[in-house]
Amino acid sequence: MTNSLPMIDVRDISKTFRLHLRGGAELPVLRAASLQVAAGECVTLHGASGSGKSTLLRSLYGTYRPQQGHVRLRHRGEMVDLVTALPRQILDVRRYTLGYVTQFLRVVPRVSTLDIVAEPLMTQGNDEAEARRRAGELLERLGIAGKLWDLPPATFSGGEQQRVNIARVFAAEYPILLLDEPTASLDEANAQTVIELIKDARSRGTAIVAIVHEPVTRAAITTRLVPVAELGEAA
Ligand SMILES: Nc1ncnc2c1ncn2[C@@H]1O[C@H](COP(=O)(O)OP(=O)(O)O)[C@@H](O)[C@H]1O
Ligand SMILES: [Mg+2]
Repeated sequence: MTNSLPMIDVRDISKTFRLHLRGGAELPVLRAASLQVAAGECVTLHGASGSGKSTLLRSLYGTYRPQQGHVRLRHRGEMVDLVTALPRQILDVRRYTLGYVTQFLRVVPRVSTLDIVAEPLMTQGNDEAEARRRAGELLERLGIAGKLWDLPPATFSGGEQQRVNIARVFAAEYPILLLDEPTASLDEANAQTVIELIKDARSRGTAIVAIVHEPVTRAAITTRLVPVAELGEAA
């Protein structure tokens, strides 16, 4: 399903890094970049390494604050601007609206795999039994064996940790998903599962911005391929 309900509205954002180790030299990465994403769309960002793809995703998550422009996201029925939002508003947006998959799982010591995946569902207000049931469903779909569920994922392989990360974010069914190379350390069968999860999310109306290099996955998920260099003024 692609409909016209705007979920993401990035207007004219600029992000320049000041390089303190280089005597304060400035590195402009995004210049007046704009991007609109509707419900059910999967926009895949395209561009050479270092072109600013991850910087845009981090700006969409509120990790980086652009010096100029607006990053508006549909949250609880209203457009909230992450550039001017208070920290507690950004946390509320992340709790209910925004899921972010990176290549790396932030491993919490001593917390079991099942609880890591169930946690976002519980903070959204689901009861523990329901959260754990859905967490288990996702872990099973992503091929994480049941005998691993009670263990913390600290010692898991890179691919297993990435699948736990994917399970955690997709279980919560956020209306907006940011995916930074979500299939980078996965084998073909698991990448196929992630493709299906992305398609399911799109059919629920989830708006997705993805960074994916691998051609098969990219072709399967993308509704619009956007060169990051063409989002704003030429650098
Ligand atoms: N926190 C930061 N501080 C300084 N420079 C950064 C920071 N984050 C990203 N950059 C720089 O911005 C440029 C774009 O990085 P990035 O968005 O990660 O590119 P991509 O994801 O397209 O490979 C790179 O030159 C990178 O070194
Ligand atoms: Mg990157």
